[in-house]
Amino acid sequence: MLILAIESSCDETAAAVVRDGREILSSIISSQIELHKPFGGVVPEIASREHLDKIEPIVSEALKIAEVTLDQIDAVAVTQGPGLIGSLLVGVCYAKALAFGRDLPIVGINHIEGHFYSVVFENPPIEFPALALIVSGGHTNLFYVPEEGKYKVVSRTRDDAAGEAFDKVAKMIGLGYPGGPEIEKLALEGNAKAVRFTRPKISDGRPDFSFSGLKTAVLKHLKTIGNTSSADLAASFQHAVVSQLIDTTGKVAKELRPKTLIVAGGVACNLALREAAETLANELSIPVYFPSKHLSTDNAAMIAAAAYPKLLRGETAPLSMTADITLRLQNFENEDFRRSNVRYRL
Ligand code: KG4
Ligand code: ZN
Repeated sequence: MLILAIESSCDETAAAVVRDGREILSSIISSQIELHKPFGGVVPEIASREHLDKIEPIVSEALKIAEVTLDQIDAVAVTQGPGLIGSLLVGVCYAKALAFGRDLPIVGINHIEGHFYSVVFENPPIEFPALALIVSGGHTNLFYVPEEGKYKVVSRTRDDAAGEAFDKVAKMIGLGYPGGPEIEKLALEGNAKAVRFTRPKISDGRPDFSFSGLKTAVLKHLKTIGNTSSADLAASFQHAVVSQLIDTTGKVAKELRPKTLIVAGGVACNLALREAAETLANELSIPVYFPSKHLSTDNAAMIAAAAYPKLLRGETAPLSMTADITLRLQNFENEDFRRSNVRYRL
């Protein structure tokens, strides 16, 4: 089965052709990083205009590199949400037009589920139940995945996403955008023990994450103490993020006893996070799967991989489907947040 997938949820226009959900025939990514750099973050209006310019050439290139024509494509997959509305709509409208024009089935994919599937290309098959830490610029969640296609959020961030914290702290210490890779590079020259940041306290005892206090602590440090080198600050900040992510993952894993640990999303590029996840997986005697660098940040191959089992189950979308910026990924043992007084920025 040949799937043509499209991803345009944030600042990457991407298209891919994937065979049977596992074999990447092409994966083309047009990054807008250079356009957003002067602003220190993604400007939604610039992003959607750029997607509009790039979607056609990127899809054509994906077909060309895969050496297939549209006649050979069996289904279209597209990121439906969450993301920026103007960005998502470009991919969704293009994919729907293709599906309508070619009379092809279409599958709408949750971007976060895409990140989960980014590990399937270069690792052995996932053994369920799995525990997946999805860490990107927009999301920081821990999912319990009892079987293929079932997700329960067991941990989430109360405020910033981990990648967002990397980006903001990088800006504070005068580094470029996106901040994650810049902090990682600078941290190599620093001492991770130079500054001891306190752990956030989650008063209701849920295994949740929080990064906004850490961000404020870095700012305070810069303003008042000032004599720590920025390399030491970067290393200490990175250490604080990684240890919060891994300690919570470890605590949850000991309770839920998954058979596979998955770490995916843009922040999964970070080597300190990978090393800490490997140490944890060794302790738990389970394998940990990461995507390669190309598949860690936003791409369309992961969207095709997530669409494949849905197509096998016949879960296609009607042409009335549309972008959904608040799309959730939870369909198993849903909690009722209306009854709790905790506010999440999901
Ligand atoms: O998955 P992604 O491409 O987009 C979203 O879905 O958000 O993730 C982008 C995020 C950015 O915040 C970026 O700073 C972070 O991933 N990132 C990293 C690294 N590479 C990218 N964070 C830490 N270390 C890295 N090496
Ligand atoms: Zn992403």
